[in-house]
Amino acid sequence: DGAMHGKHVLTWMDYTQSEISQLLAQAQHLKENPYTQSLKGKNLAMIFEKSSTRTRVSFEVGMVQMGGHALYLNTNDIQIGRGETIADTARVLSGYVDAIMFRTTSHSKLKELADNASVPVINGLCDVYHPCQALADIFTIFELKGRLSGVKVVYIGDGNNVAHSLMILAAMTGMEMVICAPEGYHPQAEIMDKAIELAERHSGSVRLENDPKKAVVDADVIYTDVWTSMGQEEESEKRLQDFRGYQVDEDLLNSAKSNASFLHCLPAHRGEEVTGGVIDGTHSAVFQQAENRMHVQKAILQAVIGWK
Ligand code: CP
Ligand code: NVA
Repeated sequence: DGAMHGKHVLTWMDYTQSEISQLLAQAQHLKENPYTQSLKGKNLAMIFEKSSTRTRVSFEVGMVQMGGHALYLNTNDIQIGRGETIADTARVLSGYVDAIMFRTTSHSKLKELADNASVPVINGLCDVYHPCQALADIFTIFELKGRLSGVKVVYIGDGNNVAHSLMILAAMTGMEMVICAPEGYHPQAEIMDKAIELAERHSGSVRLENDPKKAVVDADVIYTDVWTSMGQEEESEKRLQDFRGYQVDEDLLNSAKSNASFLHCLPAHRGEEVTGGVIDGTHSAVFQQAENRMHVQKAILQAVIGWK
């Protein structure tokens, strides 16, 4: 087929359910057969405006396992840091590498890179989306539950990048998604509407619920993320107050299904959004989830830049 070849991965909104299923199947295959030559000689530039452990290491190791290579580029070290435009950087890098991964503070910068690159651009997290994380999340949920359609996932916490992307893929795969966030931290209305529309088309559902105790009833998966995202550090005191009551603790986990799983994109702040007991407990699958970042990203890379 090769319909994904050459495509950007910015939000998943321009992908079909069947393409998402193909990526999940390919990720499964690559998890079982990690070493290939399917990206022999291919190069991935990875531009980081923010810190990273998982995204950086999983993309770099993934490229090497498939016979390719990855370059870590911190914006402070390349000429972007001295004012070279993102558009010019996109045009220059397109002459050297086969794909560009970008972790950035703003979706508009990601768009500028994608609009000016002649190679696929992969979103490695921006302020609004984290698509690679969401693909790993649903891959992990499939491993844990054996299905996606009808699985109830409850996201508790800040309705920002990780929640937005999870909502989109949950909707596209027919899951029952509940977002539980305090006032002022709900997902963006436009993305919520889009997710509801996608869910209707795929027999899933996406809805808000303000009360964590009510939200987690019958939950198969409880998911949370940090209350203070990268770049919001000056708001952290206020956020500690605003998110009071939204911690995933043993009591909340016990209100979900007895076999409920706990997921977190990591890094975690133990004692804030989740207790140490929950994240280190028997319901937690956070390290399986972290490992899966690599398998799904390898599937993405093969689909968008693999040798045919
Ligand atoms: N979950 C995630 O994207 O982790 P890093 O910030 O370590 O890349
Ligand atoms: N919401 C978090 C996710 C980190 C992977 C952030 O943006 O910092």
